[in-house]
Amino acid sequence: MEKKLKILAFAGSLRKDSYNKALINTAKEISPESMEIEIFDLAKIPLFNQDEELNMPESVKEFKSKIKESDGVLIATPEYNRSFPGVLKNAIDWASRPFGDNSFEDKPVALMGATGGSIVGTSVAQMALRPVFSFLNAHLLEKPVIYVAEAHRKISNGFVVDKELKESIRNLLLAFEAWIIRLKKV
Ligand SMILES: Cc1cc2nc3c(=O)[nH]c(=O)nc-3n(C[C@H](O)[C@H](O)[C@H](O)COP(=O)(O)O)c2cc1C
Repeated sequence: MEKKLKILAFAGSLRKDSYNKALINTAKEISPESMEIEIFDLAKIPLFNQDEELNMPESVKEFKSKIKESDGVLIATPEYNRSFPGVLKNAIDWASRPFGDNSFEDKPVALMGATGGSIVGTSVAQMALRPVFSFLNAHLLEKPVIYVAEAHRKISNGFVVDKELKESIRNLLLAFEAWIIRLKKV
C-alpha cells in the first residue's frame, strides 16, 4: 500500500466544547484510508513575541515541525467579529517566523468552519484567512467549502451528528487528497 498522506489538523478555538474542534474530530473519524490526521491543540501555543522568535518555546518548535513534516494542513476556524480568532492568527504568526523559515511555504491548506450563528457560517472568517495564506505562499483548496451555520443543530458531544455535514467533510477530505497529490506532481 502507498504511504498515507499526513495531515496536521487544528481548530482556531480553545473552547472545551468547541464546534470547530468537533469538525476536526469528525474529519479524523471519517478520513479516507489513504490519510492519517493528527490533531494539534493550539492551547499549547503562547502569545507571539518577536523577541523570542530566535529562541522559540518547545511547543512552537513542535508545531512548526509538525506542519513542515505534514503533506497538508486542515484548519477549522470560528468566526469572531467577522474575522478569524486571534488564537489562530497567533499560531499562524509563530509558524511563519523567523523570516526565511515560514512553515507554511508551499503547503497545501484546507479550511472549514462552524458557528452557532445563523447567517454567514464562518464564510467571512474564511475569506479573511485567504490573504494570509496567499502571503505565506501556501496553496489553499478553493472548493468544496464548508460553512457551518447553526452548529448546535449538527454537532453534539464533540462530533458532527448531521449526516449531510459528515458527507460534506468526507468530500472535502477527498478533494484535499486530490489537491495534495496534484501539487506533488507539479
Ligand atoms: C468574540 C466573539 C465574536 C464572535 N463573532 C461572531 C461573528 O462575527 N460571526 C458569527 O457567526 N459568530 C460569531 N461568534 C459566535 C461564535 O461563532 C461561536 O461562539 C462559536 O461557537 C465559536 O466557535 P467554537 O465553538 O469552535 O469555539 C462570536 C463569538 C465570540 C466569542
